[in-house]
Amino acid sequence: MELDRLSIDNEGLIPSIKSVDVEYSFGKGESEKQVLFDNNLTIYPGEIVIMTGPSGSGKTTLLTLIGALRSMQKGSIQFLGRELLNLSDNGKHDLRKEIGFIFQHHNLFESLSALDTLKVAMQLQIPKPSPEQAEKEATELLQRLGLGERMTYKPSRLSGGQKQRVAIARALINHPKLILADEPTAALDQESGQMVIELFKERAQEEKATVLIVTHDNRILDAADRIVNMVDGHIHSNILIKEHLRICEYLNHCHVFKDVKASILNNVAHQLKRKSYKPGEIIIKQGDHGEHFYLIDTGRAVASLEKNGISQEVAVLGGGQSFGELALLNDEPRAATITAQSDVEAYLLNKNDFLSVIENPPALGDEIRNIYMQAG
Ligand SMILES: Nc1ncnc2c1ncn2[C@@H]1O[C@H](COP(=O)(O)OP(=O)(O)OP(=O)(O)O)[C@@H](O)[C@H]1O
Ligand SMILES: [Mg+2]
Repeated sequence: MELDRLSIDNEGLIPSIKSVDVEYSFGKGESEKQVLFDNNLTIYPGEIVIMTGPSGSGKTTLLTLIGALRSMQKGSIQFLGRELLNLSDNGKHDLRKEIGFIFQHHNLFESLSALDTLKVAMQLQIPKPSPEQAEKEATELLQRLGLGERMTYKPSRLSGGQKQRVAIARALINHPKLILADEPTAALDQESGQMVIELFKERAQEEKATVLIVTHDNRILDAADRIVNMVDGHIHSNILIKEHLRICEYLNHCHVFKDVKASILNNVAHQLKRKSYKPGEIIIKQGDHGEHFYLIDTGRAVASLEKNGISQEVAVLGGGQSFGELALLNDEPRAATITAQSDVEAYLLNKNDFLSVIENPPALGDEIRNIYMQAG
């Protein structure tokens, strides 16, 4: 859903990442090419955010700017309140210690076994762990990632997926506050991909780590809180996944949309505007002209009919229930008054958008989940 519609309540929390109007160009003079434009993204501790988008859309470039692996040119990125623009090399170096990087090219040292790779990474900890502690933690993490049998192997004796898991273990061994991962599960089979996803979830939930993953792997969708889509160097949409899926599900059950295919309902969910109502507030009034279709997300509302000056309650509506379509379809006045009984959060679709959905030809399919990934 749109940026301004995110209903996550993070008041008072310091974002882990706050990027404002970030731009970036490669090259100089004649050969200068701008690849990032006005990127705004705020991510809070404990969130898992997926970034998708076509090849060349700027995902890796933005990720490396956020990770202080590249110098900022224009705009602002704050990492836990610290500004990255004009940050000194020492400052960048310190900041990187708090980040776990996982990149497509894992850059493992050929001379180090999996276990030694992790032990070397642990030397960055302050205070340094004892050799016994380092051995114990490194062993546990490698076992967790299914590498228990291969801990003493050097990269030349590991498969691509195994190397990738060593790189993931190296990124996570120091319990970073921020995990930046570029296609971390692409080389992994179902089982090891799932282990990695579980580990990300655990770090987000238990340690409030922030996880930003560039991926086209829709197995990660279920674990993620938000999906950010990049197009031509710009964050084009930023969606709360659970909320979006719930609304798609609600729309799918609305009688009026029974013949509308899932991909169109997915677009409808993007067009909805969220609105709050206080208890006692009138949402629509009998006799009024209809301009919107309504879908209740949370709360209760009462439908009442007025006849000869007497108002009579006819129904109570709750989450997932919709109203207001008749006046739009038949161009007639509102048939009933709907009043909020509790705090109500509702989604509104304007008349033109509603009518254009209804006019869409009926079709097949239930592809809501895949649609996210296809957007890339
Ligand atoms: N070192 C570089 N020098 C010049 N141009 C670059 C450089 N790195 C990336 N680019 C350009 O910047 C744009 C964004 O690249 P980026 O690697 O961020 O895309 P991406 O979204 O990560 O793509 P992919 O999904 O293929 O990994 C592309 O047009 C690319 O050609
Ligand atoms: Mg990339």
